[in-house]
Amino acid sequence: MVVAPPAASPSRPVPVSPISAAEVAGVRLPTTRAHLLPPRVFHDPAVLAYEREAWFAGGWVCVGREEDALGDGAYFLAQVAGESLIVVRGEDGELRGFYNLCRHRGATLVEEPCGTLVRFQCPYHAWIYDLRGNLRPPRHTELLENFRPAEWGLVPVRLASWQGFVFVDLSGEAPPLRGWLEDLPPLFDRFDLGGLRRARRIEYDVAANWKAIVENYEECYHCPGVHPQLNRITPYNLGERVTGRGPWLGSWMEVVGEYETLSLDGAAHGRPPIAGMGAEDAKRVSYFVVWPNLLISLHPDYLMSHWVWPVEPGRTRVVCEWFFDPQTMARPDFDPEDAVGFWDLTNRQDWHVCELQQAGTRSRAYTPGRYSGIEGSVHGFDLMVADRYAGDGVATQVDRVTKAASSAGVGRRAGRAQETAAD
Ligand code: FES
Ligand SMILES: [Fe+2]
Repeated sequence: MVVAPPAASPSRPVPVSPISAAEVAGVRLPTTRAHLLPPRVFHDPAVLAYEREAWFAGGWVCVGREEDALGDGAYFLAQVAGESLIVVRGEDGELRGFYNLCRHRGATLVEEPCGTLVRFQCPYHAWIYDLRGNLRPPRHTELLENFRPAEWGLVPVRLASWQGFVFVDLSGEAPPLRGWLEDLPPLFDRFDLGGLRRARRIEYDVAANWKAIVENYEECYHCPGVHPQLNRITPYNLGERVTGRGPWLGSWMEVVGEYETLSLDGAAHGRPPIAGMGAEDAKRVSYFVVWPNLLISLHPDYLMSHWVWPVEPGRTRVVCEWFFDPQTMARPDFDPEDAVGFWDLTNRQDWHVCELQQAGTRSRAYTPGRYSGIEGSVHGFDLMVADRYAGDGVATQVDRVTKAASSAGVGRRAGRAQETAAD
């Protein structure tokens, strides 16, 4: 028996960008001449509707972690672009994705956000599907003409994992995940981030556009004033961008002096570096954005991830999770609260200024501002956004090697010289 045939793949309208190339032409210039994104992109419901359809439903997007569906029948629900999805582990060990709806009258199939099941049973008329999505012949359908249960399985969603992160592709048309990530995976190959385990999860409801939150993550210009605690441990001007070709942005910041990690007191409290960390990594915090909304922050002794989910143009749900080595977590004195507390404070400081930006850019008095000399990474994200709005096939390459830090920063990272320096 096979899962639903490809013909069951949902069709979708081709989204039309509400933002013209002319409207973002000022963004697609060298950083020293460029303007920030037009304010409309932070406030206009039509823009968010486009982003949902074209970006969140238009290719790979990370929806969670494999650890939430490890055993047979373990599943979690994910919401992407208004769709409810089931991510479930079959008895064969395969992780699969399905739209969370019954093929009979369309009822939502699973209501609990996570758990373990041996099969899916629709709460309405009790149609039953196995963990591979196959429909069992339903009662009272024996006499139906032209009805083959094998053709009425759950509608599959393309799914793949990388480093424990689970991605889905609602379009079904994106390149294979690893190829789509291009030159990102080699930067992480020495780690087994999929082997880490979540210690804490905090959700935030932020009154700001999702892109403002990603922009904020991409720079430390604001750190001295907004994050005195963070700036003490990783000074804002000691860091550098990690550049590449793929749908991602990267940078790292240096952990100075006797400090060991980003925590309330800067100490790792005996937590060893996670496996794969070299001597250089052990004094760095690395920050990566995986398009469009996954933020990966790798610390010497832990991983933190943010998922940035748009709710409304001016409202975003941010899920923040902290992951540690399971052996470290098994120690009787393990306590993640110094790391969690540090970032919970830092997150709230960030959300506050993002909310201020959201409020101010709504004013008729606001025109797009300029990128400072240490906001090249913000420009990098805005270029990803602007190129996609423009939809003219041009991938703007300006300034992809602008330093994250000021000229006082450390030397350029070796071995990643495929771009042309523009700073
Ligand atoms: S809607 Fe699911 S069995 Fe009827
Ligand atoms: Fe910040």
